[in-house]
Amino acid sequence: MSKQTILVTGGAGYIGSHAVKALQLSGYQVLILDSLVYGHQDIATTLGAELIVGDTNDRPLLDRLFGDRQINAVMHFAAYAYVGESVSQPDKYYRNNVVGTLSLLEAMVVANVKNFVFSSTCASYGVPQQIPITEDHPQAPINPYGATKLMVERILQDFDVAYGLKSVIFRYFNAAGADPMGEIGEDHDPETHLIPLVLQTAMGKRDAITVYGSDYPTADGTCIRDYIHVADLADAHVLGLQYLLDGNRSEIFNLGNGNGFSVKEVIDAAKQITGKPIAVVMGDRRAGDPPALVGSSEKARKILNWQPKYADLNLILQHAWQWHQKRHC
Ligand SMILES: NC(=O)c1ccc[n+]([C@@H]2O[C@H](COP(=O)([O-])OP(=O)(O)OC[C@H]3O[C@@H](n4cnc5c(N)ncnc54)[C@H](O)[C@@H]3O)[C@@H](O)[C@H]2O)c1
Repeated sequence: MSKQTILVTGGAGYIGSHAVKALQLSGYQVLILDSLVYGHQDIATTLGAELIVGDTNDRPLLDRLFGDRQINAVMHFAAYAYVGESVSQPDKYYRNNVVGTLSLLEAMVVANVKNFVFSSTCASYGVPQQIPITEDHPQAPINPYGATKLMVERILQDFDVAYGLKSVIFRYFNAAGADPMGEIGEDHDPETHLIPLVLQTAMGKRDAITVYGSDYPTADGTCIRDYIHVADLADAHVLGLQYLLDGNRSEIFNLGNGNGFSVKEVIDAAKQITGKPIAVVMGDRRAGDPPALVGSSEKARKILNWQPKYADLNLILQHAWQWHQKRHC
């Protein structure tokens, strides 16, 4: 039997590339569609996956792609994901994340491709009313980025009813770490995520890491976040895809670690793992940063039988450090 082909949008980016690797290891043929606005050509090359450089807003390109190739399902990672920029340039975010996704979904309907795995975010919940956050928590995003993801979630519900397009929506918490084999990892530019910023400080590429707020109602006063290893995220995507290809109904799953770690705990653990000094500057709180964001992923464990392998913060940091040293030395 010939391999099933999965179109992975954003597959030259951080999480998408790890999903590409997991799909290949599970026996799927992968086709990457990436604009390379933030993605890396060399990462796609490393994985030996076919890369089509293009944009989800390019409908003629999508129609050609779906017409020429037998595509069984789409994993959609392509999006802009800088929260601050989404506040200052909301049009850029609505056009790319919502209009671009709509164009992709319309092309799928025309081509009769019915399975879609979507990267949503815990930012779609807004400020949590209770911790851990479960999938039925109200969604009230507090920035345009989170709003774009919520809009796509709504579009997916309507496309299921109207066109029978089935989706698995994953709401991730903070993706972190790198491929345990050291082949691929995180390389955002600009970088805004805590763990790579801390590791860049350990490498001497930054003078210090700024901690935004030390008077939160948490044990050490710094914010608590849920870090999920990118390889565990990637495995969940393969399981979500198989769930859809088995003919199951559309579902929504949180993907998190279930354990929160404070900013201070992350910095202390990074000092241990790297053996380097990490200078810290205490800053003011940032608007819109909740004290704690921790998700419950019980549903994914139960329905998809997802079993994260790298929940330990030290392992997440070790793999990220191994990649950072290889990529940036
Ligand atoms: N990193 C996280 O912690 C996190 C958390 C929650 C959700 N997410 C979501 O996961 C997805 C992947 O995030 P990431 O951290 O890997 O980001 P990333 O920037 O590394 O990857 C996104 C990729 O999509 C490409 N892209 C963007 N718009 C495109 C378009 N219109 N057409 C084609 N390609 C396009 C970029 O070039 C990039 O390679 C995003 O949808 C993001 O919103 C990420």
